[in-house]
Amino acid sequence: MAFVELDDVSKVFADARGGTGLLTLDHVSLSLEKYELLCVLGPSGCGKSTLLNMIAGFEHPTSGTVRVDGKPVTAPGADRSVVFQQATLLPWLPVCENVAFYHKLQGRSKKERQELAQPYIDLVGLTGFEHHYPAELSGGMSQRVGIARAAARLQRHPDGRAVCRARRADEGGNP
Ligand SMILES: Nc1ncnc2c1ncn2[C@@H]1O[C@H](COP(=O)(O)OP(=O)(O)OP(=O)(O)O)[C@@H](O)[C@H]1O
Ligand SMILES: [Mg+2]
Repeated sequence: MAFVELDDVSKVFADARGGTGLLTLDHVSLSLEKYELLCVLGPSGCGKSTLLNMIAGFEHPTSGTVRVDGKPVTAPGADRSVVFQQATLLPWLPVCENVAFYHKLQGRSKKERQELAQPYIDLVGLTGFEHHYPAELSGGMSQRVGIARAAARLQRHPDGRAVCRARRADEGGNP
């Protein structure tokens, strides 16, 4: 069984103005193995984010099923990270605390959070901006904080090692 599986998934958004619903995904099936990379391309509004939101558990299919690791997706979970289309950072927290926000919720100490966040901040090229607030960042920098947050979140998960391995390989070290 594939790691991520969409089986005959359709999504119809209700039309708040009383017209017919909007068919956004129409009988989509796909399967992804672990570590496989999938690019979804299509015109604006064709349903790419909706597809990702289903896998993340933010949206539910109108029909069909979405499974991750064999289990139907019913809600967001600690086994999945999302880099949002808008950076969606917490404006009252500095970069390091945004990156380690999940670990704050887990009750990790400030020192642990800083140690955990730093490699991911370095990885996305934001060394020196740890204590800057989102309002002090460019759009691209904000997106990179979102990427670091998603990657750091996975560190709790055993597969998070893949991120660190990729970084070391990139730096010329042993993967
Ligand atoms: N919560 C929602 N309620 C109603 N309609 C929605 C909702 N979310 C998305 N849609 C509609 O579903 C369609 C697909 O939206 P989606 O955000 O998946 O597009 P996208 O392919 O990611 O586009 P873009 O490239 O612009 O990001 C759009 O027509 C959008 O208006
Ligand atoms: Mg989108």
